[in-house]
Amino acid sequence: MLDQRLLPDDEVVVELRSAAEVAEAIRSMVVRGAPAIGIAAAYGYALAAERGEDLDEAYRVLADSRPTAVNLAWALEEMRSDPTPERARAIHADEVERCRRMAAHAATLLAPGTRALTHCNAGGLATGGYGSAVGALRAAWERDLLVHVWVGETRPLLQGARLTAWELEALGVPHAVIADSAAGSLMAAGEVDAVVAGADRIAANGDTANKIGTYSLAVLAKHHGIPLYIVAPTSTLDPHAGSGADIPIEQRDPGEVTTRFAAHNPAFDVTPGDLVAAIVTEVGVHRAPYEASLPAPARAAT
Ligand code: MRU
Repeated sequence: MLDQRLLPDDEVVVELRSAAEVAEAIRSMVVRGAPAIGIAAAYGYALAAERGEDLDEAYRVLADSRPTAVNLAWALEEMRSDPTPERARAIHADEVERCRRMAAHAATLLAPGTRALTHCNAGGLATGGYGSAVGALRAAWERDLLVHVWVGETRPLLQGARLTAWELEALGVPHAVIADSAAGSLMAAGEVDAVVAGADRIAANGDTANKIGTYSLAVLAKHHGIPLYIVAPTSTLDPHAGSGADIPIEQRDPGEVTTRFAAHNPAFDVTPGDLVAAIVTEVGVHRAPYEASLPAPARAAT
């Protein structure tokens, strides 16, 4: 795996040799982003099967590595009946294909000349390839609909400033990294036409867990009359979560915020569905009421 903690300065590939090592890579964010976590878990489970590891233990250690992204549990369930490398590769290929399809749907929501704001990293690094929210921006750029992307730096681990900026630079998409706290004044100045973000888990009513700070952007966007679009594969839908109250929020090491003082470090927040203008999956564009419009979660190819 490419160690995402070291980007953009160093491109280091780490080798993982057991389910426990894959779980630790997920926990420590060598790999991160909801679909990529699911894909990594699928490979980890296949690795465990190939090595003759106890599969119940492999399932447990992988499932426990991070709590919020439902893709992790989804991918492990998909692997249970067929714990082979071929199955893991199929899950990986399907996720990338889902990204391409949702990106094409999402691009239809953006008008020519769009200046978009995105948060965290929902690009190819986060999805195993192509990207969800960044995939949408990429598709919009290729269709001459997008002119600029504001990239929220995404405190405390800087997924925006390190990863999304790196990806947009490689794609040749004009962009500028902003301090997270700059979003409101940019919106007030009329410099943001749409907020486009990914998701880690979407409840049946459209409440969406995503990187901490997404909720603040949603409130700001609502105040300024700017649409917030969530772009995510159906593997991120959790029909068992009726609302955001059912979504576990990961609390990470306070030392990621500051080692000098007491700190508090929730890694995700929940944006209520009524602040989301549309949720875009590979199936299409879904609008409120989400209980009626959201499709069923994907099933892996057999
Ligand atoms: O803590 P992270 O970096 O795993 O959080 C990732 C996000 O919040 C992404 O926005 C989300 O997983 C969507 S990725 C396509």
